[in-house]
Amino acid sequence: MGTSVTESIPPHPVLEEYYPVQAARQSFVGELFDGAARYYNHIGRMLDLGSGPMYRRQALQRAGLKRGMRLLDVATGTGLVARGAAEVLGDPRRVVGVDPSSGMLREARMALTGPLVRGRAEILPFRSDSFDMLSMGFALRHVEDLEIAFDEYRRVLKPGGRLLLLEVSRPSSRILRWLIRTHFQRILPLLTRISTGSEWAELLMKYYWDTIDRCVPPETILDVLRRNGFVDVKRRVYCGFLSEYVAARGAGAPPAEARLQMNHRIASSAGSMPRNP
Ligand SMILES: C[S@@+](CC[C@H](N)C(=O)[O-])C[C@H]1O[C@@H](n2cnc3c(N)ncnc32)[C@H](O)[C@@H]1O
Repeated sequence: MGTSVTESIPPHPVLEEYYPVQAARQSFVGELFDGAARYYNHIGRMLDLGSGPMYRRQALQRAGLKRGMRLLDVATGTGLVARGAAEVLGDPRRVVGVDPSSGMLREARMALTGPLVRGRAEILPFRSDSFDMLSMGFALRHVEDLEIAFDEYRRVLKPGGRLLLLEVSRPSSRILRWLIRTHFQRILPLLTRISTGSEWAELLMKYYWDTIDRCVPPETILDVLRRNGFVDVKRRVYCGFLSEYVAARGAGAPPAEARLQMNHRIASSAGSMPRNP
């Protein structure tokens, strides 16, 4: 039997108001985070009123992080998830942070003593079967392709290894969507501009909402995880918009039949799915 051809699943379509074509996306995102890095923690505190570090730590514990484990934090940014993990594990050396932005990694270095590596979700610079758990906080919208990223996540996790993806999702309730949209689209960019004086920081806030609004639906994320060999795949939602995707790496390679079926499902729901040319 021939192998199935998997299609590319970007988390959102090309956003032409920010960059012209898919090929320009990573460099736009890179510049954006490098430019806004020194304001990121300040923006985060305005966003969550200081609850972010505790939320991240508790989410890691809910997803099964325990002492003795070794965790890879992909898109570690300024290290907010990695710090929470180091607290739970009681040893900063058991947490490895990886991120493509040198600006964000510089900020992370001020707060973390564990290993920090420059790299991208789609091509992780680690050996196969290396980690007991992999986390990614609020960055899934920035990867180029969900298929490729999840394939990498499975590769670097040990069999049975745990996965935790934190994301902000478009709320299904209309009122909550209006509230969150107004907050993210109007209030936060303005507050950010006033309090930082930085155009990059303001742009980051605007881009933040647009990527949430145009992101593929949660069902697609769950489907792509399953077809990439993850089991016990679940999504928990907090406050109507905070998504926690949890899963475990299955024992073997993803079954070809499951991949084929998921390809058909995703192709038939493509009407609602953003696609790049
Ligand atoms: C919103 S920040 C999240 C930082 C941190 N995880 C947190 O919870 O606050 C998004 C991070 O994703 C990183 N990023 C962008 N593209 C990426 C990619 N392809 N692979 C891995 N990380 C990426 C950015 O450099 C940035 O540091």
